[in-house]
Amino acid sequence: MCGIVGVVGNPQATEILTNGLEKLEYRGYDSAGIFVADADHDYLVKSQGRIKDLESKITPEVQGTIGIGHTRWATHGEPSEENAHPHTSQSGRFVLVHNGVIENYDDLKHEYLANDTFYGETDSEIAVHLIEYFANQGLDTKEAFRKALTKIRGSYAFGLIDKNDRDTIYVAKNKSPLLIGLGDGFNVICSDALAMLQQTNIFVELNDGEMVIVTKDNVAIENAAGDSIKREPYEAKIDASDMEKGTYPYYMLKEIDEQPATMRRIISEYTDETGAVAVDQALLDSLLASDRIYIVACGTSYNAGLASKQIIEELANIPVEVHLSSEFGYNMPLLSAKPFFIYLTQSGETADSRQVLVKTNELGHPALTVTNVAGSTLSREATYTMLLHAGPEIAVASTKAYTAQIAALTVLSKAVGDAKDNAAAKDFDLVKELGIAANAMDVMISEKELLKQLAHDYFAGAEHAFYIGRGTDYYVSLEVSLKLKEISYIHAEGFAAGELKHGTIALVEEGTPVIGIISDDVTAPHTRGNLREVESRGAHTMVIASEDLSKPDDQIVVPVVHHFLRPLAAVIPGQLLAYYATLERGLDVDKPRNLAKSVTVE
Ligand code: F6R
Repeated sequence: MCGIVGVVGNPQATEILTNGLEKLEYRGYDSAGIFVADADHDYLVKSQGRIKDLESKITPEVQGTIGIGHTRWATHGEPSEENAHPHTSQSGRFVLVHNGVIENYDDLKHEYLANDTFYGETDSEIAVHLIEYFANQGLDTKEAFRKALTKIRGSYAFGLIDKNDRDTIYVAKNKSPLLIGLGDGFNVICSDALAMLQQTNIFVELNDGEMVIVTKDNVAIENAAGDSIKREPYEAKIDASDMEKGTYPYYMLKEIDEQPATMRRIISEYTDETGAVAVDQALLDSLLASDRIYIVACGTSYNAGLASKQIIEELANIPVEVHLSSEFGYNMPLLSAKPFFIYLTQSGETADSRQVLVKTNELGHPALTVTNVAGSTLSREATYTMLLHAGPEIAVASTKAYTAQIAALTVLSKAVGDAKDNAAAKDFDLVKELGIAANAMDVMISEKELLKQLAHDYFAGAEHAFYIGRGTDYYVSLEVSLKLKEISYIHAEGFAAGELKHGTIALVEEGTPVIGIISDDVTAPHTRGNLREVESRGAHTMVIASEDLSKPDDQIVVPVVHHFLRPLAAVIPGQLLAYYATLERGLDVDKPRNLAKSVTVE
């Protein structure tokens, strides 16, 4: 959802910015730009499209020691060169990159900037004009920037350069992520540490409302009142090689393949040498004191919450509600007496989820963020954090975070259940069962040729598709249909198998793919019955069945795993079917249209 980079004090500024933008391209990829300067020259290069389109416009003389760059996911104004960042002020003196949304941009424009000329339609262009407006009133850059910030309502991470002072980047943050990286003789700024790992692994976190003056050898943090803040840097423990695709054609395929290893890493991170589950005691105590768990999440993380509901309820014996963040914040249900909130978020930055966390924090309720990104906003702001240890997820379509979230919640539920002496928890050998699930994932991953062929047979000419299942199989259907639609653009829906006949079956035509997921012995005959119903109306049916329930004609057979962990194995064929259906259509698997990886606007 827009990515920002910046560097000060390094003669390789252009290269550092473009490398950083390549790493941030998952955050938005409809246009990009850089501003680079040294004492005597400055260059502004912008382009619609991907970072490679920008790079093709950067000529050899575009060099400097200071610069800022941006990759955009459009919010205000269409994707175009005019709307691409960096934006310049009316006179051209100030240059700015912005991630976020300025809610009152129209008011600001009318109140302060009625006579200015604007090149694009973005809220961000207003911000840089406003800074110049206050500078023209006689304020120095820092104070003009601060004054503008007091007028701006909304979310932002800003990087600002004043061409009259080519040794400083001014930075401010509210709700949108931004980090300062400490280099050797230079400093950088970035939306995500991944962007600058080639330059440094030492970073300084920023809090909302803070402003930072970054020079090549100093990072001065100030709060909104202008008081100086001291903050220790931290070391980002991310291996830069995890960011590389290696021999894989797409990150998504690499990330699908990494899922069994992630399961094994979760086992080793959260169990001791005796196999006993080890989670933070304070987190455990807080859960033991709660009477209801509210899982709040979006998209794939929401689907992982649904798939984990039964696991938590049976192992930990605590009722679970799963809610969409974007709904929950504004339509909060009546809460139980002792609620405990779990925020599932791969990125830890999702604005919809964060706005709920802010509210539940205000209400004083304990909260756990389960995330893949250490130090992310939701991780810092929740009472507790559990990391997924899945390694960076770069493909926009989430895969390994889904299975890692289910595994992490299984670990947590087992710990709570053991502490309560619950029979279901005592009978559940976590290390063994997660190991079996990891092996089952390996088996599904080894079926790529079959899945590629099935993707061709079922989806080649399809405009619509349905995944159906009951219980947890329904929840997996929601996830795999999301995968299919978001990257292949085939309209796909996940449906409760029994519900299809209550209306939606009207959409089934000759050849419509309907895929049944079957892993539960009680509901298996009913889902098979529903498949026959659609078959008799012309549907092209496929079955993904657990081995113990499979029939000779079933297309995909999934090894048997513990019933709690069925989604871990059953989701893999759906992920791979989506991947191959997308490849077949010649689309960019990792960067589907209209989407961005980290959704930092509400
Ligand atoms: C789909 C996908 C999204 C995210 C959603 C939440 O493949 O990736 O649906 O799951 O935007 O993101 P996080 O988990 O980062 O909060």
